[in-house]
Amino acid sequence: MKILVTGGLGFIGSETVISLIENGYEVVIVDNLANSKIGVLDRIETITGVRPDFVKVDCCDKEALNQVFDAYPVSGVIHFAGLKAVGESVRIPLAYYRNNLLSTINLVEAMAAHNVYNLVFSSSATVYGDPKELPLLETTPLGETTNPYGETKKMIERILTDFNKANPQFNIALLRYFNPIGGHKSGLLGEDPTGIPNNLLPYVTQVAIGRRDKLHVYGNDYPTEDGTCIRDYIHVCDLAEGHVATIKYLEEKPGLVIFNLGTGKGTSVFGVLKAFEEATGVKIPYQIDPRRPGDVTANYANVDKAEKILHWKAKRDVKQACFDAYQFQVKNPKGIE
Ligand code: WQD
Repeated sequence: MKILVTGGLGFIGSETVISLIENGYEVVIVDNLANSKIGVLDRIETITGVRPDFVKVDCCDKEALNQVFDAYPVSGVIHFAGLKAVGESVRIPLAYYRNNLLSTINLVEAMAAHNVYNLVFSSSATVYGDPKELPLLETTPLGETTNPYGETKKMIERILTDFNKANPQFNIALLRYFNPIGGHKSGLLGEDPTGIPNNLLPYVTQVAIGRRDKLHVYGNDYPTEDGTCIRDYIHVCDLAEGHVATIKYLEEKPGLVIFNLGTGKGTSVFGVLKAFEEATGVKIPYQIDPRRPGDVTANYANVDKAEKILHWKAKRDVKQACFDAYQFQVKNPKGIE
């Protein structure tokens, strides 16, 4: 069975491609290389022994996308492609709305035109906004997003839900990721942001190898045990395996489903630094900065639904993820060339 993976050369996409191949699927990757490197394809081949098909296409280009479906008969699609930098989305909101919404609409139309009915969409825990109660269940009402990036995820969830009502032959999974971190155990793949990292772990690993002098911790006056924010950090390889479980599920069960993909455990920023030091032996220098606008105090998932229905559960802990992220950074100090 062949699966089309948009954004398949990205951080989560590439790990998912590997998991799919390891589970006997064939893969065709579509990626516009806006925030990924072609070298990732070689690394996927080194790890799996298989070179997936790759087509450089921007999903906003409907004709090119249709040509991919003409050329590669697929049974399902996992849609990762999208712009994802929170701060940038505040500066150039229209680019985010145009890119993320248009690419998804084009994709679904191309799927419908080619009778491909199984779709997994990369959503985010950001759709819950600032949680009133924890842990977050899939039934927890959605909250106010704090930036255009998050709003595109919420809007796409709505678009796909409406589309599914009108087109019940489609099977759609909305996967709400918590905070993906880590990398492949080979050290060949990991998070490789361009410029200054927005997210915690890539910043920490760049400090660890001396590329940056210290971490800026955004606030230590939150109402948590140590004053820093709490997140549900999930190893990217666990997340990837969650996608394979979802694809298998969609092959058997029709309809629209929503799953939280997290670990169910919250870790503070200082908790991450402690795990990092335990895993790698490297102590991260930091300074306390003011709170970052838009950050919520805490969020973590209830993951019972995924466990019960997908028979999937995160197996790796934050320490393992810190170790794998560090390995990747050490082997690729300047990222993937
Ligand atoms: C985690 C914690 C920061 C950087 C974002 C998106 C979300 C999802 C994942 C991505 C927070 C603190 C961070 C730093 C710090 N989407 N921090 N110093 O904000 O939970 O989620 O990324 O595609 O939609 O909103 O993740 O890694 O940025 O932050 O102290 O240099 O680390 O304040 O408490 P976040 P993050």
